[in-house]
Amino acid sequence: MNNIDIFNKIVNDERFKEEMNYIQHGDVSVYNHSINVAKSCISFSKKLRIKVNYESLVKGALLHDYFLYDWHDNEHEGLHAFEHPKIARRNAINDFGLSKKEENMILSHMFPLSKSIPRYKESIILCCVDKYCASKETITRNKIAREINDNKKIKFKRSIFNLSQLLINLNILAIILATNVLSNII
Ligand SMILES: [Fe+2]
Ligand SMILES: [Fe+2]
Repeated sequence: MNNIDIFNKIVNDERFKEEMNYIQHGDVSVYNHSINVAKSCISFSKKLRIKVNYESLVKGALLHDYFLYDWHDNEHEGLHAFEHPKIARRNAINDFGLSKKEENMILSHMFPLSKSIPRYKESIILCCVDKYCASKETITRNKIAREINDNKKIKFKRSIFNLSQLLINLNILAIILATNVLSNII
């Protein structure tokens, strides 16, 4: 299988799709994060013309966060940052099988937090690209949140303006009515 076949096989796998149920960073699911990382790993190595094993790069990148639980709750083994690479490796071996290189990619992607050191070009690329994508996903989310907040502020200002316009119009109407009534009396 080439890297495109491997990509399609994994992203269409029913168990892998369980990642859609879990949030990784901001409002990005683990599923979308893994796809972002895999695609970015490929474009990164192509841009820098690094000769890599694309099949392993895609597979290791897609499966690097294959831990299959919600890391925001406390009902999982140990500290997530340290433990999830080992859990992802175990799940990936059971469901897809891994080469030694792919195992190292998954185990070391949290380096320097992990004890495992990136030993292959593919592992170093994944380690860097994962951090880049994680930061980008978090920053984008914050930017969207800021924009929503700004929109809310604009809407609030508009509604205050509309309310004051209405009050001014009512006042003018009241003055006109009062003037008419007074002129009739006088
Ligand atoms: Fe991770
Ligand atoms: Fe990740």
